[in-house]
Amino acid sequence: MKELKSYFEANKDRFLDELLDLLRIPSISADPKYAPDVRRMAEATAEHLRKVGADQVEIFPTDGHPIVYGEKMVDPKAPTVLVYGHYDVQPPDPLDLWDSPPFEPVVKKTKLHPQGAIFARGACDDKGQFFMHVKAFEMMMQQNKLSCNVKFMIEGEEEVGSKNLEKFCRDNRKKLSCDVVLISDTSIIDNQTPSLTVGLRGLCYMEVEVTGPNKDLHSGVYGGAVANPVNVLCQMIASLHDSKRRITVEGFYDDVEKVSGKERKAMNEAPYDEKQYMKSLGVAELMGEKGFTTIERTGIRPTLDVNGIWGGYIGEGAKTVLPSKAFAKISMRLVPNQDPKKIEKLFARHFEKLAPKSVKVKVTAHHGGYPVVVPTNSVEYKAAEKAMEQAFGKKPLPQRGGGSIPIVAMFDQVLDARSVLMGFGLDSDDIHSPNEHYGLYNYYKGIETIPYFYQFYASLKKK
Ligand code: BES
Ligand code: MN
Ligand code: MN
Repeated sequence: MKELKSYFEANKDRFLDELLDLLRIPSISADPKYAPDVRRMAEATAEHLRKVGADQVEIFPTDGHPIVYGEKMVDPKAPTVLVYGHYDVQPPDPLDLWDSPPFEPVVKKTKLHPQGAIFARGACDDKGQFFMHVKAFEMMMQQNKLSCNVKFMIEGEEEVGSKNLEKFCRDNRKKLSCDVVLISDTSIIDNQTPSLTVGLRGLCYMEVEVTGPNKDLHSGVYGGAVANPVNVLCQMIASLHDSKRRITVEGFYDDVEKVSGKERKAMNEAPYDEKQYMKSLGVAELMGEKGFTTIERTGIRPTLDVNGIWGGYIGEGAKTVLPSKAFAKISMRLVPNQDPKKIEKLFARHFEKLAPKSVKVKVTAHHGGYPVVVPTNSVEYKAAEKAMEQAFGKKPLPQRGGGSIPIVAMFDQVLDARSVLMGFGLDSDDIHSPNEHYGLYNYYKGIETIPYFYQFYASLKKK
């Protein structure tokens, strides 16, 4: 699309500046202190949609953070694409590990991003990625190239479990009706190896509380006589994996889909440099379930990890204490066909059974999500594949992502719509970590690819 190319060249610096401005808004959904900034981010997003020509732009309040909506209906006979993204970001902590302030974006070159990358919280996840859709839409509008109807739904609670999105979708089924959901919130293999995400893991997130004595005790006077809940919790957690690094929760693997040898072979043909991987993470050895490669361990196998653990004295200096309580947040990444609700119950039952009589345990569940697999023989997959091939000059490989986007399964059910997971980040972009960044190459490549998707999707749908 030649016309788009010259419009792109003439406007790409502004496209970058506009994204940098959005990255200055600390729209941290998890921390109520930032609610006004989240609101400001919703308003800025709505304003951008209005400016580039979307109709019916509206900020829908929810019980949590608002949802931004906008649409452009060009032709009732044309297919409708629903673009989903999230404008909220993860908290930037720990702040002292950032090389530059998280909400003061800077562009710096890196080894993997020789053309420069934008460093800021949300640069890749997901402001940089959802905004590519706004800019691609601008180009298509300006050059009269919009071949599909478009609806934008950009939410502000993805990083806290999308608590209010399902109700919004149920209440607005008609408004949101579409032929396909288009999402850029995942990764490609590397900048020379485009890929489309064909699977996401599900999530089951639990919190446990272990109580020993009814108050903190002097660890000299009572130590040796009374169970220490922190020690007990550590032992319980250690027992959640066996010597093959399999998860010991009874029934945990019952519903795990067995992936065919053919698919496993294909997965392992994707470029992957284990030495480089270890080096970039500063570890001398990798660890995971026996019998599976790293790509398999992060793509098709479920896992269990402690996300946080606390209890007892953690202040300055030393205080001798035998604490009354210990806590941990434990999450499990799930694969098809595990059901987070079922795993919740299995985990709770297992954990309660594990506890010695000397302690009481309380297990509660946080948000969860279902795993996803995307078929590769659909019209929407083919359109995305052709779009990426056109932009990168190389056919994208199908790849399973290790992360979770719980609403994808919900779209399937509530909107009866399939999703295309066409993300442009890299796994090494440090999303959720200090120094999150997004390559300029990736940002611009995304803006270039998206109009091709509309073009191919409209023409394949016609056939
Ligand atoms: N964009 C990520 C998910 C992701 C990242 C998928 C990279 C595939 C590759 C998303 O914003 C995210 O962080 N999801 C959370 C789940 C949510 C319930 C907090 C996750 O995966 O931890
Ligand atoms: Mn995301
Ligand atoms: Mn995220």
